[in-house]
Amino acid sequence: MIVKDKRFKVYLEASTIQQRLKVLGQQITQDYQGKNVVMVGILNGAFMFLSDLCRYIDLPIELSFAKYKSYQGTESTGKVAELIGFDDSIRGKDVVIVEDIVDTGNTIKKLTEDIVRKEPASVKIAALLLKPSVYKGSIPIDYLGLEIENRFVVGYGLDYDGFGRNLKDLYVLDE
Ligand code: IMP
Repeated sequence: MIVKDKRFKVYLEASTIQQRLKVLGQQITQDYQGKNVVMVGILNGAFMFLSDLCRYIDLPIELSFAKYKSYQGTESTGKVAELIGFDDSIRGKDVVIVEDIVDTGNTIKKLTEDIVRKEPASVKIAALLLKPSVYKGSIPIDYLGLEIENRFVVGYGLDYDGFGRNLKDLYVLDE
């Protein structure tokens, strides 16, 4: 598969991703019984993950979105900018931040700091993917889809320079 100007190959099939999401959805359903949970998807990358994950959660949850940006092309810039912040309505609620991928961890560090200022009752993190060899942070990923190697991936919500978010499988750069 060519995305923009680079060649990618299938890394994780859609069915494998869905099996994992089903397990995460069951865990979240158990952990948040009787609670006031708000899942906050981080745009743009988490849109597909959140959309599928929330259908495996058997509770009437609230959904919201925030928008942050750190990547340009296939490299993290190291700087994370807030484009749409967290809603004030999360005060006193149990928040689950939903991220597509944790790479250096700069993004989840910044957004965790921002969200704590809104005084939620609790904050947990759900991420589809984690690159453990690159992650420098100490914030635990409470609901993790899969650990992957330090390679650039695209599809299932993740992009390469804006392209490929719609692909239902996850692809890896074919080097
Ligand atoms: P971090 O701040 O370095 O942890 O990077 C997190 C953000 O960078 C994610 O939310 C993605 O938007 C983007 N990102 C990191 N790794 C990849 C990748 O392999 N493919 C596409 N986007 C990525």
